[in-house]
Amino acid sequence: MRGFLEFLNEGQVYEVLLVTRSNVTPVGVVRGGNRLFFKLFGGKSAGELRDHPYASLQATNDVELIVKLALNVPVKLEFEGNGRYRWIRALPGVYGRVTWREEPHEDELGKATVMKCTLEPEGTIDGNLPPRPLSRADWHLLEMAVDFTRLGVALRNGKTGVARKLRERIVTNYSLYRRFGGSSELAEGILASLDEGG
Ligand SMILES: Cc1cc2nc3c(=O)[nH]c(=O)nc-3n(C[C@H](O)[C@H](O)[C@H](O)COP(=O)(O)O)c2cc1C
Repeated sequence: MRGFLEFLNEGQVYEVLLVTRSNVTPVGVVRGGNRLFFKLFGGKSAGELRDHPYASLQATNDVELIVKLALNVPVKLEFEGNGRYRWIRALPGVYGRVTWREEPHEDELGKATVMKCTLEPEGTIDGNLPPRPLSRADWHLLEMAVDFTRLGVALRNGKTGVARKLRERIVTNYSLYRRFGGSSELAEGILASLDEGG
């Protein structure tokens, strides 16, 4: 379990997959010592953790997978598990019990309750990632997806100014994505839903 955590610089945010009882969603995690911290702003995973506080955090270098999971686009994944825990086959990570405290949170998107979670690793998940190099196109797609999920929240909360800013940034990241050779339908889909009022 040290193995996986040692690859994470303390204090730096990494995008990983949170696997709960029946859900998988991307979350940003930060390592502090031998533990991993992440924040959940509502959603299905938060509800599942309340009923069953056992989860896995796993790395992937497949940005399209991260984006699909964030946007709830169906994906095919193979799972394994041991009793309380479940994880995606062949993706490196850790599993452990999750504890949290809830705090009120306010930012430009409005008010929310944030679940500040800590995962204490109990076991390691062995995996091997395909030898896929970093691509700057992937980075822009990731930013598009993050802003797109935030745009949904801004619109629900009637924050039209913030929504406009997020739309502009999504369009900028889309053009950079294309410039670096990105051609995923996911990016087209995100852009198209901006015109549909999303
Ligand atoms: C790269 C990336 C990172 C994300 N990180 C978080 C996070 O740390 N916490 C969070 O609540 N939502 C995060 N999201 C948004 C969730 O994936 C999204 O809101 C999801 O639909 C809610 O998860 P659910 O499946 O548990 O309902 C992230 C999205 C992306 C694209």
